[in-house]
Amino acid sequence: MEEISPGLENVYIKYTELTYIDGNNGIMRYRGYDINELAQKSSFEKVSYLMLFGKFPDEAELKAFKSSINKNLALPDYLKDILRSLPEKSDSLGILQTLLSAKASEEGNYKYDRENDIVKIPEILGNVLSMVANIYRLKSGNNIIDPEPGDSYAETFLKACFGSTDKDSIKSMDSALILYMDHEIPASTTAALVTASTLSDMYSSLAAAIAALRGPLHGGAAEGAYRQFLEIGSPENVNEWFKNNILSGNKRLVGFGHRVYRTYDPRLKTFKKYADILSKTEEQKNILEIARKLEEAGVNAFGKKGIYTNTDFYSGIVFNAMGFPVDMFTTLFGLSRISGILAHITEYVETQERLIRPRAIYRGEKERKYPE
Ligand code: ACO
Repeated sequence: MEEISPGLENVYIKYTELTYIDGNNGIMRYRGYDINELAQKSSFEKVSYLMLFGKFPDEAELKAFKSSINKNLALPDYLKDILRSLPEKSDSLGILQTLLSAKASEEGNYKYDRENDIVKIPEILGNVLSMVANIYRLKSGNNIIDPEPGDSYAETFLKACFGSTDKDSIKSMDSALILYMDHEIPASTTAALVTASTLSDMYSSLAAAIAALRGPLHGGAAEGAYRQFLEIGSPENVNEWFKNNILSGNKRLVGFGHRVYRTYDPRLKTFKKYADILSKTEEQKNILEIARKLEEAGVNAFGKKGIYTNTDFYSGIVFNAMGFPVDMFTTLFGLSRISGILAHITEYVETQERLIRPRAIYRGEKERKYPE
């Protein structure tokens, strides 16, 4: 007797050597390395290379990887035209999805192998940096530019967005890019895997991933958590708000709970550190204080059920303190996820290739006559 597994829960569709998660003990590792150690000591470029190619790059490999990314920072004119022509109300993640699809239109068939990947993947990383930076620029009333290469991916990105940046923001951005890079195979990465399993090209697979990320059940929790803090307005209002909105059962506490973790999300540690370092204005400190009080109330109420703070509770505070508006949070998450998604699709197609084609159990009408 066939059975379905709703939401594909507990269905395994690939082997992976990329990300290990122990949800009961709050452990997360990329290729065996602790996630917070990587965020502290490494860089986005090195960790991307590790995820994509299985080892840290040596000096020459790192130089070549960075230089290929930097050669691909200028968007083709037709993408700039598309950017300018989209309606003002378009949301930033929707624009990213559109640009990735547009780029896919000139791709043709892609032959998945290591020799092609080492050329194609840095091209994509350069392109997507420029797409996201220009989405931010356009939405904040600035002109579209070809980003100038900085010393790192994080620096290039922040300078492209804001014109200038500082050491703490660069380190925080670099860490955020690493912490959000991969999380095994959530809905977005699975959408990319399904697409790539047909041997569709990388940009099409990424567009599918971003389409899945857009839904409120997946991306968007960092935005939701931050909007919660804005609604509360002041640390003195936290307990009252929590009682009326959360304990009453009217709403879920956004930034709390996770399908995999039964304790604190391990990525939180580093996000909390940078939330503390970057929150300098009175307004930023106020938001951070609200978050801390709300976290305490949430852990007191739900900790015994295994519901703890997830990474999105603090990541929005970090992104906002760097200068990004709430509408950009999920798009920054998307930018960070690109190399993780590419690592999963190349790992799958190049080592375990099999078209992903599940079945559905038919339970409709039996054979019927067409009404004459
Ligand atoms: N606030 C209050 N109660 C919660 C929360 C929460 N944030 N999360 C779970 N619960 C409760 C549920 O009400 C339910 O209680 P019950 O058993 O008494 O009915 C119980 O915990 C189990 O909830 P489920 O929805 O079955 O748990 P699931 O594992 O499916 O939920 C999810 C995971 C969707 C993330 C959930 O915790 C949630 O909605 N959180 C808020 C949104 C959020 O922060 N999302 C970000 C996820 S992390 C990320 O994407 C990086």
